[in-house]
Amino acid sequence: MGTSRLSGTVNVPGAKNSVLKLMAATLLAPGTSTLTNVPEIEDVTIMAELLRRLGCEVTQAEGVVTITVPDRPDHRADYDLVRKMRASICVLGPLIARCGAADVAVPGGDNIGSRGLDMHVDGLRRMGAQVSNEHGYLLAEASQLNGANVFLDFPSVGATETLVMAAVTAQGVSILENVAREPEIIDICHMLNEMGADIGGIGTSTLTISGVAALNPVSHRVVSDRIVAGTWAVAAAMTGGDITINGVNPIHLDVPLDKLKTAGATIERREDSFRVHMSQRPQAVDIVTLPYPGFPTDLQPQFIAMNAISHGAALVTENLFEARFRFVQELARLGADVRTDGHHALIRGRAELSGAPVEATDIRAGAGLVLAGLVAQGETFVYGAEHIDRGYAGFVSVLTDLGAQISRITD
Ligand code: EPU
Repeated sequence: MGTSRLSGTVNVPGAKNSVLKLMAATLLAPGTSTLTNVPEIEDVTIMAELLRRLGCEVTQAEGVVTITVPDRPDHRADYDLVRKMRASICVLGPLIARCGAADVAVPGGDNIGSRGLDMHVDGLRRMGAQVSNEHGYLLAEASQLNGANVFLDFPSVGATETLVMAAVTAQGVSILENVAREPEIIDICHMLNEMGADIGGIGTSTLTISGVAALNPVSHRVVSDRIVAGTWAVAAAMTGGDITINGVNPIHLDVPLDKLKTAGATIERREDSFRVHMSQRPQAVDIVTLPYPGFPTDLQPQFIAMNAISHGAALVTENLFEARFRFVQELARLGADVRTDGHHALIRGRAELSGAPVEATDIRAGAGLVLAGLVAQGETFVYGAEHIDRGYAGFVSVLTDLGAQISRITD
């Protein structure tokens, strides 16, 4: 890698953090469902494998996934797949709703934090499920789920999804309060309504769900990946580049795009695309990660990388994942001046970074390190690049097309 100004056009595929849950939600209806705008990423392959183990037939080709769900799916998600992808937990809600039982391996913590499941479990119990944790598995059982009122302590994306998927076929009305409002949550709620569910309040913090007897299969287009789009936007800003990012609603990136504007970029917004143009060294920008519509934690490493080569200093506050600053030690290997204290990081921008070998520990850390490597003097080797494959389709080829000097050394 080496310094290069990135320019051109990119198309953004469907969102990883939506498609995995939509694939799980198809379990709620026997028959064949089709998802389009599906990204070609490793996590989709893992989720397809998990659904096959549950008895589904799954085909994947050119952005389309079809899933044929049997009348009686299996209800056990084994540890060998869950440990590869903690998002496997999203089968918990649909399996208990469809099968009356779910045995799902507990994912454990990972490189970004401890990642509890207490709100998933508490909500299911309120709906009448018996839930225990034995031998590394969450064992949930309910011959009939009942509608319930649940107030989430925190607007967790995963807990919201589990409880929505459990509530859509529960008996009676569920009122879920303080739920997450991410575009990916809106996407799954719309898909479930297309399947015959009755979810009201979509896009607000309170969902009212009237249980229905059964759902039907569906054809649905996955919402585009705002985090992938945001990553290319930061790439333009960091490299003094000019990138048009197509196929994504810029409203989903309101706060990050506003931050890039503060950093000195020109942003042109259209209905389903935007252009980021930068003609100067960025100004450092403060960031506080929060649930949507706040600044997304999944763009925090990329913005720290930008701050590392900006004018001035910035304070970044991480409120979602306590270990997400782990990657700054790697960024420091490139010469970045970053100090962390608890959930704050102070970054003093440097005129130059210097290339070095570094290790990616998760998807977004990997993306942030590559962006830093693009502007560092000399060569940067990013080990652990397979993390990036989990969430970015054709990462290296997109960057190459934009003019980056980057190559993939091993698969
Ligand atoms: N939490 C609990 N108890 C719970 C649920 C969550 O304590 O029952 C805590 C977590 O430990 C964490 C915080 O609440 O500290 C937020 O967790 P949340 O449930 O909102 O996140 P998630 O569903 O585990 C999804 C994305 C993440 C993204 C977060 C926040 C998927 C597969 N993952 O995780 O994406 O950072 O929402 O937006 O949708 C990524 O793509 O790189 C990624 C990590």
